Amino acid sequence: MEKILIIGACGQIGVELTLALRKAYSNQQVIATDIREEHELLKGTGPYAILNAMDATALLEIIRKEKITQVYLLAAVLSATGEKDPKRAWDINMQSLMQLLDIGVQEKLHKIYWPSSIAVFGTSTPKQNTHQKTIIEPQTVYGISKYAGELWCQYYHDRWGLDVRSLRYPGLISWKSAPGGGTTDYAIEIFHEALRSGHYTCFLEKGAYLPMMYMDDAIRATIELMESPVEKIKSRMSYNISAMSFSPEEIAAEIRTHLPNFSIDYAPDFRQKIAEGWPQSIDDSAAKADWGWKSEFDLKKMANEMLTHLKS
Ligand code: SER
Repeated sequence: MEKILIIGACGQIGVELTLALRKAYSNQQVIATDIREEHELLKGTGPYAILNAMDATALLEIIRKEKITQVYLLAAVLSATGEKDPKRAWDINMQSLMQLLDIGVQEKLHKIYWPSSIAVFGTSTPKQNTHQKTIIEPQTVYGISKYAGELWCQYYHDRWGLDVRSLRYPGLISWKSAPGGGTTDYAIEIFHEALRSGHYTCFLEKGAYLPMMYMDDAIRATIELMESPVEKIKSRMSYNISAMSFSPEEIAAEIRTHLPNFSIDYAPDFRQKIAEGWPQSIDDSAAKADWGWKSEFDLKKMANEMLTHLKS
């Protein structure tokens, strides 16, 4: 019987992924952990424990005690927060991964999931339809840690046969749990402010066009990747996945079709420079060809879902 451990279960992805995996498996088969107190939406849905992703001893203990077979490591310091304390971001992002990879080999884990990001790309990368294998020179500490991590995942697979799988998420848009310090978080704040005050001051500039994805698509992609037969996983770095791209003025125009009085202005900060380093659209043909990935949410459908759920 598979037994799944989620590290970082109270984060933006963690809450929804935990709930989805509990539905796909059973509540008892999915152990949620985070350094924080249990998220409201997880309460009563299955086992929960406090775990610091940097604590290798505690990690090994819970893996042995619960007879864990699969681990999803979601704890990370994202792009904007990472730039404020680069050394700390590097330590958290790398140490949590490296110790898990070692434990994965030692304890013969069946599968590990570790997310990467469009942040691996930098200004030297072609901006349109960015291919999975291209020039990769990340400019944020977050991007550097994700790219280094991808290489380590591939190394542990090739050298020790560890089944590690990974996706490069675009900006993720969701309403259930709050985002955690990313450059793409404006695309969530804008919905909250549109409903609260009817106005949003955007920390990115007009024209900052970025790849984005609705959380339902991201969760489905993650589970589909992890459930795919091993022979379909041809990339042991990380798969590009794509759903939509838009600029702040385009998402504002879409919100205006629901809330005609909504207004936006721009006060770009340091995050604008991070956004400028990232691609505008992503080529996900490898994910489509290898394990049948297909997105379902475009800008219109996503905005409609966000406003409907946030209103209620
Ligand atoms: N959403 C992330 C960020 O902005 C990108 O992976 O940091």
